[in-house]
Amino acid sequence: MRTKYCGNITISDVNQTVTLCGWVDRKRNFGNFIFIDMRDCTGIIQIFVHSKNHDVFQNALKLKNEFCIQVIGTVKKRTLKNQNIKLKTGLIEITVSILNIINSSLALPMDINQKNDEHIRFKYRYLDLRRFDMFQNLKTRHKITAYIRQFLNKNHFINIETPFLTKSTPEGAKEYLISSRIHHNKYYALPQSPQIFKQLCMISGIDRYYQIVKCFRDEDLRSDRQPEFTQIDIEAAFIDDIYIKNITEEIIKMLWKKILNYSIIDIPTIKFYDAINTYGSDKPDLRNPMKIYHLKKTNLIYNIHDFKQNNIITIALIIPMGISKFTSNQINNLNDIINIYNSIQYIYISINNIHKKKYSITNTINNLKSQHIMEIIYEINANNGDIVLVLSGQKNIINILSNNLRHIIAKELNIINYNSWKPIWITDFPMFKKDKNNILSATHHPFTSPKGISIKKLKTTNPESIIANSYDLVINGYELGGGSVRIHHPEIQKIIFDILNMSITHKKNPFDFFVHALQYGTPPHAGIALGLDRIVMLLTKSHNIKDVIAFPKTNIATCLMSGAPSKYTY
Ligand code: AMO
Repeated sequence: MRTKYCGNITISDVNQTVTLCGWVDRKRNFGNFIFIDMRDCTGIIQIFVHSKNHDVFQNALKLKNEFCIQVIGTVKKRTLKNQNIKLKTGLIEITVSILNIINSSLALPMDINQKNDEHIRFKYRYLDLRRFDMFQNLKTRHKITAYIRQFLNKNHFINIETPFLTKSTPEGAKEYLISSRIHHNKYYALPQSPQIFKQLCMISGIDRYYQIVKCFRDEDLRSDRQPEFTQIDIEAAFIDDIYIKNITEEIIKMLWKKILNYSIIDIPTIKFYDAINTYGSDKPDLRNPMKIYHLKKTNLIYNIHDFKQNNIITIALIIPMGISKFTSNQINNLNDIINIYNSIQYIYISINNIHKKKYSITNTINNLKSQHIMEIIYEINANNGDIVLVLSGQKNIINILSNNLRHIIAKELNIINYNSWKPIWITDFPMFKKDKNNILSATHHPFTSPKGISIKKLKTTNPESIIANSYDLVINGYELGGGSVRIHHPEIQKIIFDILNMSITHKKNPFDFFVHALQYGTPPHAGIALGLDRIVMLLTKSHNIKDVIAFPKTNIATCLMSGAPSKYTY
């Protein structure tokens, strides 16, 4: 149907006859002649129709935006005054000899040359994808996937597909269930990840596995979470965590170089507890230079006896040169955020002159003496002109709050370099975490190997103090991937399931088959899964993963186009 694509025609094609197919992006009628911006997947070219060409002109008069057309014409150089240097094809245009209307179009419910309301975008996603930016995102996603495949193939990883109709995998979220027609009242679970299968591949001797694979999790959604998303899933045998981290770093560096021409030099590592203490988060955004200081004297401003609370910590944040840079309105905004948690006590210390011990404090607390104030200032190395915000309260609240405040203050001070990329590995996560009801669950998943502990000690140690041999990759505050060295001894796997009360909770441990499989000479193995959607989101500088997924779900996991989920009425 065509000999050329609109966006690929160049000045060297002048005087050639071309056949093009595409859509009417815009039509301008000047009475005696009509200009049509014709669009296809490569770009736009200008079509020129003169009234002298009667039949074509009559057809052109009928055209409306988004009509699907075929054009046969000659490539001509535009006169100097008609050239458009902003357009790739702005030096040329097509003089039409034949114009076929392939299909008309309804008036569009949205303007595809700008970003629209999400409801409309999702209801008419196929039209939203006609937007230039959206199509570019999908093209970049395609490139990224191709580069990753190329890289892993070259490094001898084998692409293996694993089942979607399967038994549950314990990744922490709720599962989507599929009913079985043949087996009444029985269900398959859609995989939260191919975790068990990739480990089984290692037992099979496959050695290096990868899969770019859909995963399904029924969890609360947010800007970087979708109910179905794609993982770059990797596993290898007879290797350690260093190997997996190196391979991952190579992938990340390669992608940032090829897509953004950005060189990531170094990916530092920080242990989980250090990340929490320094940044208040296990997904720290290191573009933000602010740190959290844990003060040695936790009861400086918080009267523990009054509040009878345990786990009190006191931290400080420095607002650099805050006296001149932070207005009282900005301080009031911070107060509003802190006051949401009514158990937090806090003061601001404005340092006028350290040597002369000149400072002023707000939210005066009776038991704070000058000596205490100076101790705080010296301990955290604050400077003249800084404002020091000291907060005291329960550990878990302070961690969440201090991370929020870190971001808010840095944003207000404009000290975040949004053009930089700051990757970091987070390691040494605790193996287990307890929920509100004191129920233990695996922080990563129950196949993660514990770090530096004997089988004997594993049975007797407080589970919450056991450290996992796991690693998360975080870039600019987004968790891009997570993985671990796996348990390859059936006995250790059994102990972990026992700690998690698996057999008791489920009557019979649903992973007994897996523990059994581990008994057939399982090799040591480790792996990782990277979130493809999140990687594409960062590399396209999008703010939501929905913008890099062709047909995403809304924040309440619905498809506004098809109406899914729906009642089953067939
Ligand atoms: P994890 O659960 O950490 O590990 O997932 C790996 C990565 O997948 C991405 N991700 C998501 N992306 C979009 N929407 C979601 N709902 C979502 N959930 C996770 C994140 C995350 O870092 N089986 C293990 C991996 C392993 O141990 O090898 C796993 O799935 O980028």
